[in-house]
Amino acid sequence: MSKTIIKALLKSSFFSCCDAFTVASLNEYTICSKSGSIYTVDETKPQVECISIKGTRISDTGSLRELESRKSPAPWLQTWFLTRLFGPPRVSYVHSNSIVIPGLADAHAHIIDNGFKMQLELDTCKTIAEVLDRVKAYIVSHPDIYNNNSRWIEGMGWDQTKWPEKRFPTAADLDADPLLRGRPIALARVDVHATWVSGRVLELMGELPTDVEGGLIIRDSNGDPTGVFVDNAMTLIPRPEWTDKQLAQFFDATMKSALSYGLTSIHDADSSPRMINFMKNLADAGEIPMRLYLMGNVVSDEYWGSQIPRLDHYGKHGRLTVRSIKLFTDGALGSWGAALLEPYSDKPDTTGIMRSTPKALSDLVKQFWKDGWQVCIHCIGDRANHVVLDVFQDLIEGNNADGVKANITEWRPRIEHAQIMTKEDLERAGRLGVIASVQPTHATSDMWYAETRLGPERIKGAYAYQTLLRESPNRVLALGSDFPVEGVNPLLGFYAAVSRLSVDGSSPHGDQGWYISEALSRAQALKGMTLDPAYASFVEHELGSLTPGKIADFVVLDRDIMKVPYAEILEAKVVATVIDGKTAYGSL
Ligand SMILES: *[C@@H]1O[C@H](CO)[C@@H](O)[C@H](O)[C@H]1NC(C)=O
Ligand SMILES: *[C@@H]1O[C@H](CO)[C@@H](O)[C@H](O)[C@H]1NC(C)=O
Ligand SMILES: [Zn+2]
Repeated sequence: MSKTIIKALLKSSFFSCCDAFTVASLNEYTICSKSGSIYTVDETKPQVECISIKGTRISDTGSLRELESRKSPAPWLQTWFLTRLFGPPRVSYVHSNSIVIPGLADAHAHIIDNGFKMQLELDTCKTIAEVLDRVKAYIVSHPDIYNNNSRWIEGMGWDQTKWPEKRFPTAADLDADPLLRGRPIALARVDVHATWVSGRVLELMGELPTDVEGGLIIRDSNGDPTGVFVDNAMTLIPRPEWTDKQLAQFFDATMKSALSYGLTSIHDADSSPRMINFMKNLADAGEIPMRLYLMGNVVSDEYWGSQIPRLDHYGKHGRLTVRSIKLFTDGALGSWGAALLEPYSDKPDTTGIMRSTPKALSDLVKQFWKDGWQVCIHCIGDRANHVVLDVFQDLIEGNNADGVKANITEWRPRIEHAQIMTKEDLERAGRLGVIASVQPTHATSDMWYAETRLGPERIKGAYAYQTLLRESPNRVLALGSDFPVEGVNPLLGFYAAVSRLSVDGSSPHGDQGWYISEALSRAQALKGMTLDPAYASFVEHELGSLTPGKIADFVVLDRDIMKVPYAEILEAKVVATVIDGKTAYGSL
């Protein structure tokens, strides 16, 4: 009889008398570190030598001796039987340089967009010509596209601030190349707040409106569109809908990549009803490989809460949750779309874009709160943050017409990005208990131009992570990447948060880091990538730290990111990613 058959038998009703015990014992093991480098993020016991796992949960933590002494003796027959079959419960040691940390969470990312981007990435392009070369190589390597001029070509990741030209690109740039001319091409900017299209797409769009509410059509001196569409104007682009096959391909690509980087939990910051439905089907089939916390989104100022299903720890493994929604207020700093209280320092004719009115926003937020949805709102500029804090404050303090009052602990509203805030609003967000969900790599990506856009005063309230953490009454600051805007590897965020340096070790303030007083300590950053996202998604009692009774999600890294020099953090590799006590990537 094979072990598989015996295991199946043990799990069957034939052995139902001792089912729970038996099944748990099959997956019982202990992981230890000789140097005690298991960082638990549990403040009662921050570092331990060993953790024991029983089934899907952490059963104990401490020294090996403590763990053995606390083991409850099992009935001898069962112990004998199981030991004969499977050997004694495993104790294994991680490599002497390795560490163990709780499973990493990304509190703000875009799962499907990331898989989409992996098809044609433009991030590293240093000139417009390089973008063209990349697109051409993509066409040449896809015969089905090469041979069909009507096939759409979509890519993502360009950033004009990295080019010598500094200007927005144009349709004419694409059409200058004979291989590209006549093809529908749409390339999203790195922040996904602007799209650059070819002449063929402009033709397909036909007559354009003069203005778009909450968006911008870039035009030349004759008033003709140049081929770049910002924020809401991007909805004019008649791109084909993704097929189910594409969705599956994009989803799988992101999951594989995320697991290999030690992510065990992702908060998706913009899930359409179609995406939610797609993932719900996967959850039914038990095919969700990690914990997914989706923020539902429908683009509409009319209440849309009824268009998305409420799912709590849904599916075969209970890994899918939909109990929050996402709203957008402004655009992004790179494309001058972030809504500011005062004009841009380098573009005094604009204060950015608000996508909806304060009144519409307030009505929506109140309705979502009433229906029991956590509300997460995208706010980059100080005006967006100000307006949203006004809306939250009215509800939290009961200053609205109906006199209704939200319980902050039960509601846990979030501001996504909280990127540029006035000193008063940094303090107010903390006082109200609004959760800030920030992306440390945005600080190090934007630091080369942020002060040009904002000037020397406003910059002090930008990317102010240490201040946000200090102001938070329960010391919660959820960290994320916003991938695919930034890389999927969470260590990029960890490194940026603690060093405030670009990956090559530089910054506008030299190798000491950009506005280094806003850096986080390593312990703060680790908590921001584990326990704080757990709090921000209502699962701090189940996840986020290596605490007995919690779910066994953890990661083994091949070096000690809590101690090595900054530059070495980025060299760290994931040895194993464990979810529900089982290895999901690598090996233990
Ligand atoms: C070319 O692509 C278009 C758009 O995807 C499609 O509708 C059409 O059937 C394709 N033509 C051929 C010959 O495959
Ligand atoms: C808010 O909700 C929490 C959790 O349910 C509860 O403990 C607390 O008492 C509530 N606060 C108020 C003011 O109702
Ligand atoms: Zn985002």
